[in-house]
Amino acid sequence: MITLEEAVNQRHSIRSYTADPIPQETVDNLRSFINQCNSVSNLNMHLVLDEPKAFGSLLFSYGMFKGVRNYLVLAGPQVDDLDYRLGYYGAQVMLRAKQLGLDSCWVGGTYHKIPSAFTLRPGDKVKSVIALGFGNGKPVNHRIRQPHEVADLRPDSPDWFVRGVDFALKAPTAINQQKFHFALVDGKVKQTTGWGSFIQMDLGIARYFFEIGAGDHPVDWERNIN
Ligand SMILES: Cc1cc2nc3c(=O)[nH]c(=O)nc-3n(C[C@H](O)[C@H](O)[C@H](O)COP(=O)(O)O)c2cc1C
Repeated sequence: MITLEEAVNQRHSIRSYTADPIPQETVDNLRSFINQCNSVSNLNMHLVLDEPKAFGSLLFSYGMFKGVRNYLVLAGPQVDDLDYRLGYYGAQVMLRAKQLGLDSCWVGGTYHKIPSAFTLRPGDKVKSVIALGFGNGKPVNHRIRQPHEVADLRPDSPDWFVRGVDFALKAPTAINQQKFHFALVDGKVKQTTGWGSFIQMDLGIARYFFEIGAGDHPVDWERNIN
């Protein structure tokens, strides 16, 4: 398995997939990781396999997506920070999938909810899905912003903070908006963001990528998450 850092550096959104099924060993590994994430977060993330209807049939596919048959449903109880939490934990599953050799694309809009494909608990809301599988599309390099545009960086900023910001810039964001901002205030990392769709989900994803960049240095976040 590749390292988390390698997974961050090798990941790009992939929207076209081969018909190759995901091997059972990979499915088992991913499912047990998803279960661990669900049990610490009380989210309801669910791996759906061999289900082509969410992204259209063979005759019709939505948007730019081709051949999507496997995806992770991002769902959870309707709490105030649901999007942020799904971002943080969904990012963990997406990168574990990459470590296991699977490509992905986070999808906020262009998919159909297929209720028969997964079980929700009363009150759970589906907020996004992540397409998963073996890509045959070409990745596009999308990074647009520079570190100083998304963080208060100073000559004396610690290395772990600079690396955290650098890794956050490698995270997927909806329409590549990268509207997050990081500052180090009294030893705590403060995240802020602008307005827009999926802005809180983007922020949660960026939080996890930042933590990977910070490496062994434990990040003291201003905002709590469980
Ligand atoms: C919350 C969220 C929602 C997204 N929704 C869509 C979507 O509906 N359709 C799509 O094609 N890509 C979607 N994306 C993928 C982004 O367009 C993509 O991550 C961004 O352009 C950066 O590219 P990269 O992931 O290759 O670095 C979404 C990403 C995020 C984080």
